Amino acid sequence: MAEPKPIANEIAASVTGPDDLVQVENLRKHFPVQSGFLASLLNRGHIPAVKAVDGVSFTIRKGEVFGLAGESGSGKSTVGRLILGLLEPTEGRVVFDGTDLGSLSPETMRRLRSRMQVIFQDPLASLNPRMTIGEAISHPVRIHITNQPDEVRRVVIEILNKVGLAPAEQFYDKYPHQISGGQRQRVVIARALVTAPDLVVADEPIAMADVSVRALLLDLMMRLKEELNLTYLFITHDLATAKYVCDRIAIMYLGKMCEVGPLADVYEYSCHPYTRALLEAVPVPDPRHRRKEPMPAGEIPSAINPPPGCHFHPRCPIARENCSVEEPALRELRPGHFVACHYAEELLK
Ligand SMILES: Nc1ncnc2c1ncn2[C@@H]1O[C@H](COP(=O)(O)OP(=O)(O)OP(=O)(O)O)[C@@H](O)[C@H]1O
Ligand SMILES: [Mg+2]
Repeated sequence: MAEPKPIANEIAASVTGPDDLVQVENLRKHFPVQSGFLASLLNRGHIPAVKAVDGVSFTIRKGEVFGLAGESGSGKSTVGRLILGLLEPTEGRVVFDGTDLGSLSPETMRRLRSRMQVIFQDPLASLNPRMTIGEAISHPVRIHITNQPDEVRRVVIEILNKVGLAPAEQFYDKYPHQISGGQRQRVVIARALVTAPDLVVADEPIAMADVSVRALLLDLMMRLKEELNLTYLFITHDLATAKYVCDRIAIMYLGKMCEVGPLADVYEYSCHPYTRALLEAVPVPDPRHRRKEPMPAGEIPSAINPPPGCHFHPRCPIARENCSVEEPALRELRPGHFVACHYAEELLK
């Protein structure tokens, strides 16, 4: 194999092209931590911050499902909220279909927002209990499509049928508590897709659904993606789910990206010890299967005070001395497949 090309974290995996819908460049989001008077004296005025997202770059191509995976607290949802413009980055930028989100007036941002939608994991928290299903889905239709009552109702009925809530007229006047959890998530999907957005950020969209309906919801989301020509940012902590839907996948650890590439390549040739461990933790329906590499010991360190060098080194089975000093850059080890590990080649063998 050719010598791997080292490239800076800032540009890795973000080789841009006309097919890109989203470009994320060196994105950082640090949340200042509230501290008491004594703590601020001890810190000599320095305000500590949670480094939720700490310099990530990637692109999402039109029509693809881009997965963002990693353990809890790795910064996945914060990346999603930054892309949606719901949070201001501390540094870096998000470019949506050629437009830098940081340069927009509130009015232009509002219009652009109609092209991006979000599906959260908890449908009960996403839906107003005092609004009927019909009212909930009508809301974005009235803002972004039409105010004409008959037309609003027609559009809502059409999307209810599309998400499998049929006969739609029966669901229209029901309240969220009158339908099942799986049906509620279909309502959330309908509300997100009714304005035919370009990008859908799906943040753990099936995590709270009953196991029996998870596959149905995923199938529905994938069918609608084709039908409505959508692009998904699919956020999950579950690599088994990601395998089912993603075209490319990025693995995050403590606010940074440790591996990114085409799904099949990352699963087949993962060469970051963290990705390896996550993949090994995915349950395999074979009693003879034995885990080769157990999940790394210990908790994820604090994002306020991440370990120096490679953030993963305290838990890494192949860490050496320099790993606690030098931060590894993302390097392209296989075509389109980038890894941030000083010793990734050893795992590739
Ligand atoms: N508004 C906020 N203020 C302060 N800290 C925050 C805020 N939002 C997120 N964080 C912190 O940023 C880090 C990343 O959070 P984030 O929700 O993005 O992680 P995640 O990967 O989505 O985790 P999960 O899988 O649990 O949803 C965490 O340490 C979290 O506590
Ligand atoms: Mg999250």
